[in-house]
Amino acid sequence: MKEFNKYIEDNKDRFLIELFDLLKIPSISADSKHDKDTRAAADLLISHFKKLGLENCEIHETKGHPIVYGEKIINKNLPTILVYGHYDVQPVDPIELWDKDPFDPYIKKTEIHPEGAIFCRGACDDKGQMFMHIKALETIMTDNQLPCNVKLMIEGEEEVGSDNLETFVKENKEKLKNDIVLVSDTGMIDKHTPSITTGLRGLSYMELEVTGPNRDLHSGHYGGTVANPINILSQIISSLHDSKNQITIPGFYEDVVEYSEDERKDSQKIPFDEEEFKKSIAINSVHGEKGFSTIERQSIRPALDVNGIWGGYTNEGAKTVLPSKAFAKISMRLVPNQNWKKISSIFTDHINKICPKGVTIKIKEHHGGQPYIAPTNTIGFKAASKSYEDVFNKKPIATKDGGSIPIIALFEKELNSKTILMGFGLDSDAIHSPNEHFGLSNFLMGIETISKFYFHFTNLFIDSSNH
Ligand code: BES
Ligand code: MN
Ligand code: MN
Repeated sequence: MKEFNKYIEDNKDRFLIELFDLLKIPSISADSKHDKDTRAAADLLISHFKKLGLENCEIHETKGHPIVYGEKIINKNLPTILVYGHYDVQPVDPIELWDKDPFDPYIKKTEIHPEGAIFCRGACDDKGQMFMHIKALETIMTDNQLPCNVKLMIEGEEEVGSDNLETFVKENKEKLKNDIVLVSDTGMIDKHTPSITTGLRGLSYMELEVTGPNRDLHSGHYGGTVANPINILSQIISSLHDSKNQITIPGFYEDVVEYSEDERKDSQKIPFDEEEFKKSIAINSVHGEKGFSTIERQSIRPALDVNGIWGGYTNEGAKTVLPSKAFAKISMRLVPNQNWKKISSIFTDHINKICPKGVTIKIKEHHGGQPYIAPTNTIGFKAASKSYEDVFNKKPIATKDGGSIPIIALFEKELNSKTILMGFGLDSDAIHSPNEHFGLSNFLMGIETISKFYFHFTNLFIDSSNH
C-alpha cells in the first residue's frame, strides 16, 4: 500500500496554517451571539470540500446551525465511507483560566506532548480531529488514489444535542447511505497506546427550578418558618444517591446491561493507572458506585451529576436573604440498554413525587441521546485495527468511553450503519476546559491512520463480498 507519511510531513506546515484559520473562528453553538461565526466556519469548510474536488457540496440550512456536506462517488460497486464530525465548539468560560485568548491558536510543548501541542478551543474537540479527515482525503486524493466512495457530513450543533442533524438524517437516508460511518471525536488510551472506542454513554440532561416564596425574604424574620428553595433543592439532590453511591430513582437500573465476570475481567486488561488518574486531576481519592472499578464506573455504569447549581446571594460579602428560587442542571450518563426518554421521564416523576410541600418545582428536559455499542467482529473494526498497527506498530485496544455523541446511535437506527470511532485525543487534552489542546503528533499520526483506513476497509470489503 501507498505510504502517506512523506506527503503529510512535506505538507504539515500548510495543514497547520489551514487548521489555525478554522480554529480562529469562535463557532460556539450554544451562544447565539456567535451565529455569524458558526456560519463562517461552515463557509470555510465548504471551501475545503470544493478544493478537494468533492461533488454536490452543499451548506444545508437548518433551524439552527448549518450542516456541511460533500461527496465523491467514484464507483457504485465500491464501498462508501460516511465521515461525520462537528465544527461547533463549547463555550470558553471560565475565560480567566486560559493562558491566552481561547481563539488565538498557538503551539506549545507540554510534558505529554514534547513535540508540541496546538492550544485553542476546538483544537481536539472536534475541529482538529475533524480536520484530520479533510487532510487525509487530500493526502489520498493527491495522486487520484481514492479507493472507494466518500461522503463528508460536518455539523454545527453536536455540543448542543444535534437536534437538527437528527431531522436531516431522517430526511436524507438515501443520500447518506453508506457501508461504514467514520468518526474522530473520542480519545485514545495514551500517546503510544492506540484504541478504538467501542462504547459511548447516552445522556439525559435535565434542569430543575424550585420556587418558594414569591420574593426573596429577610432570612432573620422568615428563617425557620418557610421552605428555603436552596435547602430543599440540596435535599432533593443529595437524596438521589444512596450510601453505596447508587442512584435512587426507582427503575433507574432496570434496563442496565450487567456484564458477566469474564467480561468484567476483560476490562481489567485495559492499561489504567489509578494513581496517575488521581494525580492528573489533583484528587486524593476516587469516588463512585460501590463494587465497580474506576474504568467500569466510567464506561459500563451510569452516573448522575449536578453540572451547575445557583440561586440566592452569591456576590461579595454577606447578605441575609432567604431566596425565592433555586436552580440546578443535572446530567445522567446512560449505558446500554437504558433509553434516555424513559430515564428523563422516570426522573421527572420521581422528582415531582419527592418534592415537599412549601415549594413548587419545574422540571425541564434538555437534550439527550442513546448509548452506543460498536461490534468488534466487523470489517470496519478490522480495517481500523490494521490502520493503527501500520502507524503505531501496535494493535489498538477496544475501550468504552464515558462521553456521549448522541447522533451515533441514530446512525444505527435510521441508516442501519455501524460507526468506527477512531479517536486521537488524550484525557489530558482538556476538552471543554480552559487551555484545550491537541498533540501535533496525534494530529499527524491521525491523518496517516485515517488515510490507511480507506484502503484496508476497501480491501476487506471487496474480499468479503467475493466470498
Ligand atoms: N467529543 C465529545 C464526546 C466524547 C469526548 C466522547 C471524549 C468520548 C470521549 C462530544 O463533543 C461531547 O462533548 N459530547 C457531549 C454531549 C453533547 C450532547 C453535549 C458530552 O459528552 O457531554
Ligand atoms: Mn466532540
Ligand atoms: Mn464536546
